[in-house]
Amino acid sequence: MPMIEVSGLTKKFGQITAVDSLTFSVDEGEVFGLLGPNGAGKTTTVRMLCCLISRTSGTAKLGDLDISHRSETMKIRKMIGIVHDNVGLYETLTAYENLEFYGQMYEAPRDLVKGNIKEYLEMLDLWDQRDRRVVSFSKGMKQKVAVARALIHDPQILFFDEPTANLDPEASKVIRDLILKLKGEGRTIFLNTHNLDEAQRTCDRIGILKTKLIAVDTTKNLENAFARKVTAIVLASLNDSILNAVESRNPKRVTVEGNTIRIELEDPDRDTPSVVSAISGAGGQIKSVKEEGVSLEGVSLEDVYLSIMRRGQN
Ligand SMILES: Nc1ncnc2c1ncn2[C@@H]1O[C@H](COP(=O)(O)OP(=O)(O)O)[C@@H](O)[C@H]1O
Ligand SMILES: [Mg+2]
Repeated sequence: MPMIEVSGLTKKFGQITAVDSLTFSVDEGEVFGLLGPNGAGKTTTVRMLCCLISRTSGTAKLGDLDISHRSETMKIRKMIGIVHDNVGLYETLTAYENLEFYGQMYEAPRDLVKGNIKEYLEMLDLWDQRDRRVVSFSKGMKQKVAVARALIHDPQILFFDEPTANLDPEASKVIRDLILKLKGEGRTIFLNTHNLDEAQRTCDRIGILKTKLIAVDTTKNLENAFARKVTAIVLASLNDSILNAVESRNPKRVTVEGNTIRIELEDPDRDTPSVVSAISGAGGQIKSVKEEGVSLEGVSLEDVYLSIMRRGQN
């Protein structure tokens, strides 16, 4: 069942079209990633969906609430939690006071707020720091407080706008794990990111945005289209004539480690058998052949755009 349904959503700032006729939907319990470089319109899209800025045309529904109906704005606010691209906490208040304040603002029951503050500060490893003023916190700590704040009223839908930008790998992982936990609880997650690898690790489906929505697909399908697939072949021993035989099959890339050759092929399903027979033909004794984990690491967003654009032209 769609939890977010976007239809022709457009935002113009004067002459500039920041977001151009987006149409897509996000199912309940799904993690949806909006992936695009700086200036692609990710933040603008989320701000419209959260009723923080007006739209120019088109519309969207969150559950059965319509963002274009002014009278439904307050109901929408209570249904969603937002982790903004800039943290925006009250620096002179403590972590606890910040969260308490937002709980009151959402008019959430006191017991629920108290329980959630404890649960999320503990989970994010900040419970012991709860009575410190936020002004003394590191960027990562502030971001964690902002995440806890977004969850304080138990929202059904969560919007994360580049939540791990500026965070170290460890803090980024804590946030990614939390996103997956929230998904496990059946909540719907909308994640803005410019990081392909992050989108791959967290999202069920990805929309690629560059003012317009260039593609929407499952993460699996995008991986299949763009990820590096590496075939690892372990041999009893390795020599130059075996390597020449591999090279003769025009692999995209070959690396050697001990007696293992790792080969990046255009299409492993199609090309692996011919590489294997070339190795055998050169006297190589193969002990095992396996395809290693697919990854989008090292693939640039530009590569993906270019490739999608090219496909679109064909
Ligand atoms: N308040 C604003 N006034 C004018 N232009 C804006 C405003 N907010 C965003 N823009 C423009 O809209 C485009 C999309 O911006 P944004 O949604 O922030 O992209 P992203 O979050 O993907 O980096 C950019 O060209 C940006 O300069
Ligand atoms: Mg942004």
